[in-house]
Amino acid sequence: GKGWMTEHLVQYQGFWLTPNAALKNLMWVQDHFKPRPTDIFLASFPKSGTTWLKALIFATVNRTRYGFADHPLLTTGPHDCFPFLDAHLQEKDRSRFDLDRFPSPRLLSIHIPYILLPNSMTDHQSCRFVYICRDPKDVLVSKWLFLNKLRPKEFPPISLEEAFELFCQGISHYGPFWDHVLGYWEASLETPEKILFLKYEDLKKEPLVVVKRLGDFLGYPFSLEEESKGVVEEIVKLCSFENLSTLEVNKVSVQKFSKDTIIDNQHFFRKGKVGDWKSYLTTEMVERLDEITYEKLLGSGLVFGS
Ligand code: A3P
Repeated sequence: GKGWMTEHLVQYQGFWLTPNAALKNLMWVQDHFKPRPTDIFLASFPKSGTTWLKALIFATVNRTRYGFADHPLLTTGPHDCFPFLDAHLQEKDRSRFDLDRFPSPRLLSIHIPYILLPNSMTDHQSCRFVYICRDPKDVLVSKWLFLNKLRPKEFPPISLEEAFELFCQGISHYGPFWDHVLGYWEASLETPEKILFLKYEDLKKEPLVVVKRLGDFLGYPFSLEEESKGVVEEIVKLCSFENLSTLEVNKVSVQKFSKDTIIDNQHFFRKGKVGDWKSYLTTEMVERLDEITYEKLLGSGLVFGS
């Protein structure tokens, strides 16, 4: 039987969603959301580096507005600087989150699979997307530990075996993982000017290169003067795991995702490493997950480093 982790997930058009939050929000986005051509969407599968990229995009787009000494990211969490598109449905006080009054460019984050997005968002004339993905072995481990932190105390801990089995079957918030990634990957090949496809591992390895690409893609290219003044380095430093995870705001405040889901910001910062799965997964688990990934991505041109 399903435990706490999945009893609240339903399958909708092939993807696993929470009926009260994710599905309701998706319906709202499909029926009512009006994108602007200037909108910037950050799309991701949960636990792929959303929090990090929120900070990087926010800092890149707003770099001429704020100095690094008193930057908003030092006192406001990435999820408040760069909210989830559907978060406003949860907000009782609509005035605090009125999408129509957001200044352009609006920075909005989504976990919605590409094929479930309304045409108004995927239309070529319209807004831009940055997608971030991550090695599914790290996503699985990050997700499992995250869920255990969110777990209401009356439920027993979720075992790694259970989390692994469900993940392999595609049963995970917004899963299957592979379909989510492939949806954005294929769309990014078709319309590269509209979708920038990034990997957590590349961002870790070459943050300066990736942040410069982000600037170019989003229409905020770094000038030679900025580069020589070390602006890109400053952004990377400001948004680093080491910096963000130690800030008071990211240790104390909370995120409200739905009536029942209130998450401490600190849970979005665990380790921030590539390959931490090595400390948790058995050889058999690694082989099976790599095999599934290999088969699902075969022929797509997309690979994850192992
Ligand atoms: P780990 O659990 O492996 O540490 P998301 O933001 O999509 O929920 O993903 C969370 C993962 O990103 C967690 O991974 C978290 O530690 C990591 N993360 C958060 N902020 C980061 C940062 N500034 N740099 C690198 N990784 C970060």
